[in-house]
Amino acid sequence: MKKAQLTLDPNFGIGEVDRRLFGSFVEHMGRCVYTGIYEPGHPTADEDGFRGDVLDLVRELGVSVVRYPGGNFVSGYRWEDGVGPRSERPTRLDLAWRSTETNEVGVNEFVDWTRKAGVEPMMAVNLGTRGVREAADLVEYCNFPGGTYWSDLRIKHGHERAHDISLWCLGNEMDGPWQTGHKTAEQYGRLAAEAAKAMRQVDPRIKLVACGSSNSGMPTFGAWEATVLEHTYEHVDYISLHAYYEEIDGDLGSFLACAVDMDQFIDAVVATCDHVGATLRNRKKILLSFDEWNVWYAKRFAGHENLEAARTPRLIEDNYHVTDAVVVGSLLITLLRHADRVGVACQAQLANVIAPILTEPDGGACRQTIFFPFAHAARYARGRVLRVEPSSPHYDTARFGDVPLLTAVATQDGDDVTVFAVNRCTNEPLGLTASLRALPGHEVVEHLTLAEADRSLTNTVEQPDRVRPRTVPGASVVDDELTAELPALSWNVIRLRRRRP
Ligand code: AHR
Repeated sequence: MKKAQLTLDPNFGIGEVDRRLFGSFVEHMGRCVYTGIYEPGHPTADEDGFRGDVLDLVRELGVSVVRYPGGNFVSGYRWEDGVGPRSERPTRLDLAWRSTETNEVGVNEFVDWTRKAGVEPMMAVNLGTRGVREAADLVEYCNFPGGTYWSDLRIKHGHERAHDISLWCLGNEMDGPWQTGHKTAEQYGRLAAEAAKAMRQVDPRIKLVACGSSNSGMPTFGAWEATVLEHTYEHVDYISLHAYYEEIDGDLGSFLACAVDMDQFIDAVVATCDHVGATLRNRKKILLSFDEWNVWYAKRFAGHENLEAARTPRLIEDNYHVTDAVVVGSLLITLLRHADRVGVACQAQLANVIAPILTEPDGGACRQTIFFPFAHAARYARGRVLRVEPSSPHYDTARFGDVPLLTAVATQDGDDVTVFAVNRCTNEPLGLTASLRALPGHEVVEHLTLAEADRSLTNTVEQPDRVRPRTVPGASVVDDELTAELPALSWNVIRLRRRRP
């Protein structure tokens, strides 16, 4: 059996685990909102029309923060359409996804849903077709206590208490030519800075996210971040990153290694932020908001121009297999390994649209395979992230060169230490040993793994339990050394606890 090693030492920490790393994303797209989280008349729907089965799964998933309402959708959105009496709300043609938007769910309903789900809302403003005035008005509507036009309107709409939304995105993917109201970095940087100032004048407590590149393959990547930050540095707290991965042309080895790309993407954006900070003589550190990431089989998407306008079209409802779950696990490990600079991360999206939760209208809901690594990380990654430096056999990939078979990270929270590990080897288990000399007296609580002999297995609403994580025997600590066997192509969580004297 191939072997890999790492060392767990509390003296080498990366940073605290920010709960906001376990965020998600609800866009008015396809069936994420309508028949996803919201379906009045569904057997489990509550008095506000929210699906109870989905709320239960969201709580189980352990999501901390949810970005809303887009995505590309936000760049044509008039937030005022979604507030006030439902009977007076207009139905609009959404340009991003060529869908009919009935506005049954708007900002107040979404905030109500977040309270039920126990998550924090993260709101995006439209800087595509709208500007400074409308962004500031939305902050006033949501966060101002009362006694002004917009805050009193919120109160009239039944929300006496301000929503107190802390995290705000200044638009979405404004570098993308597909974006409604696409801008140059110069245009966007100026607009984002002015919107940020006005929004902060309404509520100085808010935290702001400037748009970075839509992905690291954009021709303007790097230059976009630098120009945008030159304009916005003193006004924003985060810059966004988006990345979606898929297996291309049967190149499984590169797909399994895509966390390497995410890793390099993060390093490049951190370097750009710090370069701009240095040139501006500004000691503040800009954090990263990786507010869209996931596996997405985007090459299967027929394109916007081929869409029929409908209310709940089945858009990009990828059904994830075991390999996808292992890749999602490796991406979560990468996010944790950058806990010093990545302050927010949102898996895109939450329900139906490239999502961990699938639903059927008037029917059931299920956990996709990618649900499990996310839920494990959200539950067990607590306290401080430890800097583990694995040594592992490598394999050759077409896109990323030589890549280790093992990717891993660990967290420590008091007496609990948890190792998260992915074995990228498709046909052999990997023997892991981890030195615990700096953390003496620990024993194994549980070794959870997600791996199947048939890695093409998926879960569906009809067959929801084909793929489940399992507790496996064999992991042990002897003389402060952990040994465990990581099955071929697997996601693993090894939970350790200090023995009570
Ligand atoms: O999540 C789907 C889409 O991907 C979002 O609307 C957009 O921001 C990104 O390109």
